[in-house]
Amino acid sequence: MTVTVKRDGDVAVVTIDNPPVNALSQTLRQDLWNAVETLDADPAVRAVVLVCEGRTFIAGADVNEFGKPPMSPHLPDLVARIETAAKPWVAAIHGNALGGGLEVALGCRFRVAVPTASVGLPEVRLGIVPGAGGTVRLPRLIGPALAADMVTTGIPVPATKARSQGLIDAIVEGDLERGAIDFARAALDQTLPLPLCERSVPNVDLTFWETTRKAVASRARREEAPLRALACVRMAAEADFNTAMAFERQTFLDLRGSSQAGALRHVFFAERAAPRPPELAGIEPRRIRSAAVIGGGTMGAGIAAALCEAGLPLTLVERDSEAVERGLSNLRTIFDGSVKRGKISSETGAARLSSVTGTTDYGQLAGCDLVIEAVFEDLDVKREVFSKLSAVCRPDALLATNTSYLDPEQIAVGIRHPERFLGLHFFSPAHVMKLLEIVPTARTAPATLATGFALARMLNKIPVRSGICDGFIGNRILKVTRAQAERLLLSGATPQAVDAAMRAFGLPMGPFEAQDLGGLDIAAFQRRAARTRGETPFAPVAERLCTLERFGQKSGGGWYDYAKGDRTPKSSETVANIIAEEAAGTPQKPWDEASIVDCIVLPMVNEASKILGEKVALRAADIDLVEIHGYGFPRWRGGLMHYAQERGLDEVAAKLDELALQGLADTPCDRLVNAVRATSYGDEPV
Ligand code: 3HC
Ligand code: NAI
Repeated sequence: MTVTVKRDGDVAVVTIDNPPVNALSQTLRQDLWNAVETLDADPAVRAVVLVCEGRTFIAGADVNEFGKPPMSPHLPDLVARIETAAKPWVAAIHGNALGGGLEVALGCRFRVAVPTASVGLPEVRLGIVPGAGGTVRLPRLIGPALAADMVTTGIPVPATKARSQGLIDAIVEGDLERGAIDFARAALDQTLPLPLCERSVPNVDLTFWETTRKAVASRARREEAPLRALACVRMAAEADFNTAMAFERQTFLDLRGSSQAGALRHVFFAERAAPRPPELAGIEPRRIRSAAVIGGGTMGAGIAAALCEAGLPLTLVERDSEAVERGLSNLRTIFDGSVKRGKISSETGAARLSSVTGTTDYGQLAGCDLVIEAVFEDLDVKREVFSKLSAVCRPDALLATNTSYLDPEQIAVGIRHPERFLGLHFFSPAHVMKLLEIVPTARTAPATLATGFALARMLNKIPVRSGICDGFIGNRILKVTRAQAERLLLSGATPQAVDAAMRAFGLPMGPFEAQDLGGLDIAAFQRRAARTRGETPFAPVAERLCTLERFGQKSGGGWYDYAKGDRTPKSSETVANIIAEEAAGTPQKPWDEASIVDCIVLPMVNEASKILGEKVALRAADIDLVEIHGYGFPRWRGGLMHYAQERGLDEVAAKLDELALQGLADTPCDRLVNAVRATSYGDEPV
């Protein structure tokens, strides 16, 4: 049974217990339906409180049921049944009332919540719209403007704010169930408000819909759901209740089977699976109660900020006292930024800064549970740091390197107790970016690896395990992206056309704009290192730009020209001339958007397939998470590998063969050819 009913005098309490998040499975819907019927028929009951066990109120429809035919009782019918029940229902909310959970609460006559609760309609994040009256009842309760904002962004609202908007009727400070029962009894003494289905939608200015449509369209770019959700709210404002309900349901059912919804569901489950990989099941992570970061530069300060945010007391070690001051000042800048953006209060910012000890003395790390190194990208400098750490840290303290391109096996040489060492590759800015590549060496102990994943959970990051290779998973694929972008230039495309095509595909920036923003010098440094290893990296135009010290925005020009103080890229004659010289003898052809995208994205798929073949990544879904959370690959495409599978792996391979014939890509690798035969990579997207 997912539902139990008890009596408190003339108030019945219906308790839902459907772990982990009280999702509205068919069984739960049926049990709730039965409870309404039973309580309607009970003359001793005058009101009903709906409360949930566990960590949260109802977190929504059961996403596992989305791929299957809808089963009765359908959620819209259940919400209507609660709304038209003979006794008023009071939703008592703790944790989150999300999606179908909030829709059930909107069917109740009243909503009360603990101060820490939040409520929201996050359906657009899954590529759908609310399907049980959310877009129709919410504007009747809080007006179309606030409702439109909630359904088109999907961002949950904290209970206290929801109270001020009229979405919540009361905040309960003490015991929620007791408070809700008292609230119900008090409400019975007064005239009951109309159920939402009988209320009208407040008017809005005529210009509201067009202004909002434009704002939502520019935010959503090519995501379908936000504009469709807005259309539902507009229908609620302009048509009668039943017409709007039918419109919403149809939109919900249309979108539920869409490829965007499929992709977003795949990402939803991949993100939730990532922190607990099956191969680490049952392995106990070590406890982390204190941390240290070596190096307070760009990455060190960001990593330190993330550790502070997780509540860990932190020591920041630098080379000398000036560098300590610089590191602390970098941290202060990060915290000030969070205060300015309203993310934390100035008190929290000050408290976080005061939890950090800056020092040059490694001796202070003797009791530390975790140390992350983020010093210069130089093997000797890093080895020296780890030799000092080996001398002072406890043998069970976890030691990690944030190297981007060095081999962690090489860094580990000489470390005492190398089983506690691994790579933790953060992305810049480290306190913001969600991705964390976790890179074990051959000697890393399973408990150390499990601790890396546990740390990611503490930091609210998405962890992905990567084997060791140049650039790990993400930067290795990025090298292919950049090389392909240059190949396009040599065969007739312009930087503007390439960037525009990749933006149209859904990336936030094209490859050339992105390099101008980050700086071309870092990649030039990597290529020099690759050449000393005997490799021949392909970047003929980028090399020449670096020779001219065209490093990007910071030097006033890179792939584009920039006017002083203006970040708008302008086409550059210098770059066009270099491209023309480098392209001499290469066949030129016209490029449309779709072929530009294929010439970049399909070789990325091929490289990712090699990465899978070499077991550098264990699952295709892991590569999807790396691309989405590290490189801005459109979430609604489900990531690189999901995109390839949706596109059809046979088509991907055929297009790669075509590109290979023109000298523009490698032929499909063995792993891709095998996946074509099997029609999937093996870890089927959900
Ligand atoms: N359906 C099915 N399973 C769900 C679920 C849902 N709606 N929401 C969460 N889960 C599962 C997760 O997959 C995970 O399973 P696992 O333990 O087997 O990996 C487990 O619940 C715990 O989830 P989290 O790790 O995310 O737990 P947190 O405590 O960190 O977060 C939460 C809890 C905030 C509720 C978060 O899970 C969440 O945001 N869930 C999604 C909510 C949502 O999108 N609801 C709308 C659904 S669509 C809908 O309602 C349509 C309706 O309009 C008809
Ligand atoms: P940075 O140059 O901004 O910072 C390095 C810091 O290390 C400096 O503050 C320096 O004073 C300090 N340092 C140097 N030697 C030291 C020593 N022996 N003891 C203590 N402190 C010392 O460099 P950044 O960009 O922060 O990079 C650090 C590491 O992170 C590198 O390994 C880099 O490859 C990696 N990384 C960088 C990313 C980026 O986008 N910048 C992304 C991911 C990883």
